[in-house]
Amino acid sequence: MTGPVSPYLAPAFYETALATGRHRDIVGGRWDETAGAQMAALRDEGLTPADRLLDIGCGCLRLGHRAVPWLDTGHYWGTDASLALMRRGWEVELTDADRARLPLAQLIEDADFAFPGLPATIDMAIAFAVFTHLPAGRLRPALAALKARAPRLRKLLLTLFLAPEGHDGAFRQPDGVVTHATRPPWHRSAATAEADAAAAGFALHWRDRRLPRGQRLAVLVPS
Ligand SMILES: C[S@@+](CC[C@H](N)C(=O)[O-])C[C@H]1O[C@@H](n2cnc3c(N)ncnc32)[C@H](O)[C@@H]1O
Repeated sequence: MTGPVSPYLAPAFYETALATGRHRDIVGGRWDETAGAQMAALRDEGLTPADRLLDIGCGCLRLGHRAVPWLDTGHYWGTDASLALMRRGWEVELTDADRARLPLAQLIEDADFAFPGLPATIDMAIAFAVFTHLPAGRLRPALAALKARAPRLRKLLLTLFLAPEGHDGAFRQPDGVVTHATRPPWHRSAATAEADAAAAGFALHWRDRRLPRGQRLAVLVPS
């Protein structure tokens, strides 16, 4: 592999994108469709406005711009590798009223999935199109850290690209995206994801739900 393990680690990646107004593009575009898909999945899994939601790898608030006005005031938390990207979303993708519902301190820069400063009151979490950009080995420690930092968590919604066990080459996902075992966008086997979840103290349940780019939805429940 010659490129970075994640496109987000390319030199000056965030700076260049933000300087050219491309914050929506670097989280994947398809703004309303993808935000709607995330909201629908969360609601189907039982999210209520009274819940406290953690959006892991939240980017520029593609989900946040829908979730913040829907949740009770102050009930949305986001983490991302880039504080600047989250702040751009807060500044330009939220209304004045929604900015008043989301204190900036609840957008936490965190490239290590260590969840610094996260309150112990998180009820539901989502990591959408985040681990699809990271090698398989990043998932297990992130899940273990979440389990420790969010003792009240009911469910984590997690999207992944899957490929058959032992598939080392390129794999074409249902909607045409080509994924890889050794470079981004990354795929893994269902069994690998299930083992990672179990090792971190979660039971993993696959959902048959059409998601943008052929990602699969896993719902992890603390065991
Ligand atoms: C495809 S975007 C998805 C953003 C958001 N979840 C959404 O659906 O709109 C991937 C996000 O993962 C973030 N990311 C990449 N590597 C990360 C890391 N190591 N820790 C936290 N966030 C990371 C990127 O900054 C980006 O915002």
